[in-house]
Amino acid sequence: MDHFSLIGGAMHAEDVPLARIAEQVGTPVYVYSTATFRRHAQVFRDGLAPVARKHLAFAVKANPNLAVLRLLANEGFGADVVSGGEMARALAAGMAAKDIVFSGVGKSRDELAQGLDAGIGQFNLELEEEGVVLAGIAAARGLRAPATIRVNPDVDAGTHEKISTGRAENKFGLPIDEAPAIFDRLAGLPGLDLRGVAVHIGSQLSSLDPLERAFTRVGALVAELRARGHRITHVDLGGGLGVPYRTGDQFPSPGAFGAMVARVTQGWDVELMFEPGRVIAANAGVLLTRVLWVKPGVTHPWVIVDAAMNDLARVALYDAYHDVAAVRPTGATFVANVAGPVCESSDVFAKGREMDAVASGDLLVLRSAGAYGATMASTYNSRPLVPEVLVSGDRFEVVAQRILAETIMAEEHVPDWLK
Ligand code: LLP
Repeated sequence: MDHFSLIGGAMHAEDVPLARIAEQVGTPVYVYSTATFRRHAQVFRDGLAPVARKHLAFAVKANPNLAVLRLLANEGFGADVVSGGEMARALAAGMAAKDIVFSGVGKSRDELAQGLDAGIGQFNLELEEEGVVLAGIAAARGLRAPATIRVNPDVDAGTHEKISTGRAENKFGLPIDEAPAIFDRLAGLPGLDLRGVAVHIGSQLSSLDPLERAFTRVGALVAELRARGHRITHVDLGGGLGVPYRTGDQFPSPGAFGAMVARVTQGWDVELMFEPGRVIAANAGVLLTRVLWVKPGVTHPWVIVDAAMNDLARVALYDAYHDVAAVRPTGATFVANVAGPVCESSDVFAKGREMDAVASGDLLVLRSAGAYGATMASTYNSRPLVPEVLVSGDRFEVVAQRILAETIMAEEHVPDWLK
């Protein structure tokens, strides 16, 4: 459920007409709903009610806007970060360092040190050498770094290949059958407090089965590690729950997920950690855009909008589906293609889509754009970096400004030898 709906024939975000935001801020613009974020946070928390000891860490990569992070911190979330930049954001948003988990397959030595100095709650290690290096940096500071090893359980998540992370051939995690020997070696290092295991098999999962298979393997690993004399207190189960992008699509609810987790992890006696991203953020945002032209096409008309693949990359990257809806639908529909102004044939948001009939100047939204939307935006074609607006009830605020090509050019420089 979200809070983007028609009131008096015009789409609103909560109580704010989207047309008002377009007029005051311009388009394209991401619009987020505070009430939707809060609801998703609550549904996720409620779903995990059967799990006694847990830590919720929002996957910052899904939506790193400072206002969004503060909103989620207020809802009791910590953060899962994968770079020094994401760590800085989580801290700047007011999240406690101990509530931050540092994941990522390529943390640099500087980032590891930065995390230790900040007092990050947990490092999820992706390879043995990373553990050795982290232990060395920590020991030199008189510290013990709290850490888990991330294992690759060799489970097919059944999602798009480009967002699948848990098969043996993917770059993520340590092979699960080598994990006990690696754990033995790392656990002996004085700079590490090696306390558990982490897993994350992919994103936009439409079934709980692969998650259950992965968690079951992790459970067997925990038992094996304990049998070898290790103290295991934390298991990080990652993120990955999918969301319906198409009205009517059925996805496992956080409640069903929580029930499965409680069943599979019964008797583990650990603090369970979760890193949800999409399920919290996706349907809490839309990308608001204006129709520039409706151009005749060979099979269908082209609705050329002022948002493009640089603003929302998901369709070009993963053939993702986003619902398209008019902000002021007339009731008439047509079959059309929706595309942006970027000079690439992959800059197409929808093809042969039955949609609200629109004309030049009308406003449209691309729905479910609150996760992996603005965060993946670029300035390709020297387009501005897309702004973000947060709505709460009848008020709204720009929470990320539009960054113009001129501002970016100011950071560039022509060497004297070219002048
Ligand atoms: N934890 C780890 C270690 C991850 O790599 C990810 C996502 C998450 C948690 C959060 O997963 P979620 O709950 O959001 O599924 N850009 C792609 C998605 C990439 C996901 C990468 N990792 C997209 O737009 O679909």
